[in-house]
Amino acid sequence: MRAWLPTGRASDPIELAEIDRPTPGPGELLVEVRAYSINRGETILLGNPRPGWRPGKDIAGVVAEVGSGVEGWRIGDRVVAHPDSAGWAEFAVVAVHNVAALPDSVDDRTAAALPLAGLTALRLLRVAGPIAGKRVLLTGASGGLGHYLVELAAAQGAIITALTSTPARGERLLELGAHEVLASVEDTEGHFDVVFESVGGPTLTRAWARLDKRGLLIWLGQASGTPITLDFFNWSGAESGTLRKFSYHDSDIPDGTDLATLVRLVHGGHLHPEIGDVRSWTETPKALRALLDRAVRGNLVLTVDEEV
Ligand SMILES: NC(=O)c1ccc[n+]([C@@H]2O[C@H](COP(=O)([O-])OP(=O)(O)OC[C@H]3O[C@@H](n4cnc5c(N)ncnc54)[C@H](OP(=O)(O)O)[C@@H]3O)[C@@H](O)[C@H]2O)c1
Repeated sequence: MRAWLPTGRASDPIELAEIDRPTPGPGELLVEVRAYSINRGETILLGNPRPGWRPGKDIAGVVAEVGSGVEGWRIGDRVVAHPDSAGWAEFAVVAVHNVAALPDSVDDRTAAALPLAGLTALRLLRVAGPIAGKRVLLTGASGGLGHYLVELAAAQGAIITALTSTPARGERLLELGAHEVLASVEDTEGHFDVVFESVGGPTLTRAWARLDKRGLLIWLGQASGTPITLDFFNWSGAESGTLRKFSYHDSDIPDGTDLATLVRLVHGGHLHPEIGDVRSWTETPKALRALLDRAVRGNLVLTVDEEV
């Protein structure tokens, strides 16, 4: 089969290669991949790839082989899955607890956009607790995660301020329920009960200054690539606020169960993945470049063996 392998080179971080088709072990499925999406986290891992690692965590396709001990799945079942790695390929192995079934109403491209960004949005909201009527600030909102988070939080009654670099990158967020879209923390007014911060650098300290006295700031990423610096004694803002680090991996609910929730929401018309770009998987290097250049709104989906 063909798969994208990391090269470790900054100029061309992946190359398409012919490798052996993997075999599912006990408790695993082999999925014939029809579409996958790429995430910012993978661009970071590609900068310094571990030996043997291959990229790819968000896939949709059909079951091609069933490992021993697996019940309830058959060859040909349509699935969305969140493998640990190696999903940018014609076939991928995934643990059965990281898989959810797809109804006819959810196509492969839509499903492929769900896993990492959707799981993260769902789990961020669990960590934030009840948000009905609360003021919520979301930085770095124009990516895949931001669109899911805004739609899900708005449905729960949150009053959301979303930050995007241009108004065009925030248009869909307004349609999905954001109260306002602004360009920077400095443009916001008043205080927020909850802040979701994923840009890093000075953005976190600026957002902290806008946090309510006992508010919650959840720090989940560093899209700018600039680390945050906190000076305890020169750190204006929420006197008794909580700063919480977040990892979507830290969940008691298995990925497959949360994926099934996301699929159910899409099927029911309550969640609308924002797919900013769809390309043939042969264009994955260009897609990576577009993601890094902030040229994609929402998710970026690659279709396997299909020209777009
Ligand atoms: N902790 C976790 O478990 C977890 C899980 C998933 C994702 N994340 C993080 O959550 C964030 C959002 O994820 P995503 O998949 O939606 O990522 P994404 O599609 O790459 O979106 C990130 C957004 O950050 C904004 N941004 C602001 N300053 C930036 C800069 N200097 N360089 C690049 N982007 C900048 C960009 O929006 P504008 O161009 O409109 O400003 C971009 O749309 C990322 O930082 C990601 O690493 C964390």
